[in-house]
Amino acid sequence: MSYKIPLFDLNFDGEEEKAVTEVIRSKWISSGPRTKALEEKFATMLEAEQAVALTNCTVSLHLAMHLIGIQPGDEVICPSLTFVATCNAIRYVNAVPVFADVKSTSDLTMDPADIEGKITPRTRAIVVMHFGGFPCNMDRIMELADRYKLKVIEDACHGPLSEYHGKKLGTIADIGCFSFFSNKNISTGEGGMLLTNNTAYAERARLLRSHGMTSMSYERSKGHSTSYDVVDLGFNYRMDDIRASIGLVQLDKLQADINKRAEIRKLYLERLKNFDGITIPFAQSDAIVSNYIFTIVLKDSTVDKRDEVRGKLAEAGIQTSVHYPAVHRFSIFREFSCSLPLTEYVSDNLITLPMYSRLSEDDIEYIVSNLKRILHD
Ligand SMILES: Cc1ncc(COP(=O)(O)O)c(C=O)c1O
Repeated sequence: MSYKIPLFDLNFDGEEEKAVTEVIRSKWISSGPRTKALEEKFATMLEAEQAVALTNCTVSLHLAMHLIGIQPGDEVICPSLTFVATCNAIRYVNAVPVFADVKSTSDLTMDPADIEGKITPRTRAIVVMHFGGFPCNMDRIMELADRYKLKVIEDACHGPLSEYHGKKLGTIADIGCFSFFSNKNISTGEGGMLLTNNTAYAERARLLRSHGMTSMSYERSKGHSTSYDVVDLGFNYRMDDIRASIGLVQLDKLQADINKRAEIRKLYLERLKNFDGITIPFAQSDAIVSNYIFTIVLKDSTVDKRDEVRGKLAEAGIQTSVHYPAVHRFSIFREFSCSLPLTEYVSDNLITLPMYSRLSEDDIEYIVSNLKRILHD
């Protein structure tokens, strides 16, 4: 189905094509100089000491679990209102996901009080997810981590260049994980990054992303190294230079993209002001954020009503989504399930509206007038 207004549109032009062509013509298309340049640029922009480019964010989360030493049976507290990859990473190392609820229908980040209530002697770590690029309460979460000797991983997929008290998201805790999947603020098709200020973590991540080998094929091709040893049980989680070259162009565009999204969010907020029947999460936030998505939560609603509203928006040519179906209700997570009343309500009644930098004022007007019409019917 083709929509008049899609949920997302790529922020691509001739520059990405040019960058890819250059890499192809260079004849080095796997992990090499572009990948290194992307790491350096990302680390500089996000003010982190180390950046390790990877195949995607899912593997970044997986490596993070290894780096902080999560063992089978350890408990890791995580959100349920997130993409399933956040929680799958915990299962990859046979640890136990312990789900924490969100704070409220207007603050969709994890509730530090619920996190604290779920800490047991088996808890080893907390994985936070900065929903839509809006920061979790990191002061409280880092204070809990300090008190209970826990590690903290930031799933910062939604928040490149978003800030919390002057610090970039993904650089506050032990490790930050980012995605460059097509629909993210930075799009490379597939792609991801692991950020850390811990040099030992970064060195091991570099080892683990390439089979635990002590040198990479680019180094060997340049004569920097003629042999290698395998010193750790690693994976193939390497990014390639084709994607890295797209990432470099996307990083140049990131700040302008975010500025544009901030204007779009402002338009949405103005047009939806005083409109009964919905809650706009983070409406009062003045944080510097990426605005990865724009969500609303229907008040006094049900999943059937929400789906009907989405269906009518689709009939008007407006594509929507749901961020997210709650992870603790998926079949594969049933054995770890628990009651999370706010997450369940939000998951059943949230609608993600279109958000991307090329949305026009007329598009916003069209979306909001249709939404109002449908909700007043
Ligand atoms: C919150 C969150 N975590 C993890 C991921 C997984 O990222 P990737 O697709 O790069 O593996 C995504 C991507 O959709 C995400 O939105």
